[in-house]
Amino acid sequence: MARISASVYTSHVPAMGVAMDLGKTSEPYWQPVFRGYEASRAWMKANPPDVIFLVYNDHANAFSLELIPTFAIGCAAEFKPADEGWGARPVPVVKGHPEFAAHIAQSVIQDDFDLTIVNRMDVDHGLTVPLSMLCGKVDAWPCPVIPFAVNVVQYPVPSGRRCYALGRAIRRAVASFDEPLNVHVWGTGGMSHQLQGPRAGLINREFDNAFLDRLIADPAGLAQMPHVDYVREAGSEGIELVMWLIARGAMDEAPPRVVHRFYHVPASNTAVGHLVLENA
Ligand code: DHB
Ligand code: FE
Repeated sequence: MARISASVYTSHVPAMGVAMDLGKTSEPYWQPVFRGYEASRAWMKANPPDVIFLVYNDHANAFSLELIPTFAIGCAAEFKPADEGWGARPVPVVKGHPEFAAHIAQSVIQDDFDLTIVNRMDVDHGLTVPLSMLCGKVDAWPCPVIPFAVNVVQYPVPSGRRCYALGRAIRRAVASFDEPLNVHVWGTGGMSHQLQGPRAGLINREFDNAFLDRLIADPAGLAQMPHVDYVREAGSEGIELVMWLIARGAMDEAPPRVVHRFYHVPASNTAVGHLVLENA
């Protein structure tokens, strides 16, 4: 049986990827950001997963206003880094796990969540930056990755409640796969940020830290928070945080072990949050 051993949560600020690609991580601006991921990189090496189920959002690179899936599961054998306007990031191609992804799709759809099946897709900074932050600069990603894209870009977006329940369905799907895989579920995006409009640059440290507290200790309660509260408190792009509830919902009911917690302002115009939780 496959088993989810841990979940990882992280912002995916594109400038962090650029800092890595251009070798700027030890510059004074970036050093405190990357120091916050050192413990997690060591933990990844010591606890390598067989597969990462990576929840992220596409930023109008794979999808556009022509087609907006609320939840999309990547079932392909590989996913190329997307060209987001200035060439693709110089990072490895992402290898998928078609058999496991198809199993999860089967289980989750029969569990009443409507997923879009994606057999060809490029992956943008939402997916590649978290991999870079946790794995460093590598020639190949350490394991297969199943991309799971959530629409948090174009309204209407899914509720935190639905994301949390979907996480539970993903847990059941993983548990019913007949291979002894060690699985990580990652939730990415956030934390508070607004990239445009009169409130551009909005950061809310109090909200972000309370979100981290509740994600650890009271995820079911946190899942009840309506989407408008994310937008009001964490900015228009702060809504990306609902994706963290999918990863949290995939964890066991028993309280998790907090392996690492990190919060930093700023990276670009954004608050960076990062959490690693292990199932007890
Ligand atoms: C930026 C873009 C993002 O998608 C995000 O989640 C945070 C920051 C940016 O362009 O700075
Ligand atoms: Fe984003």
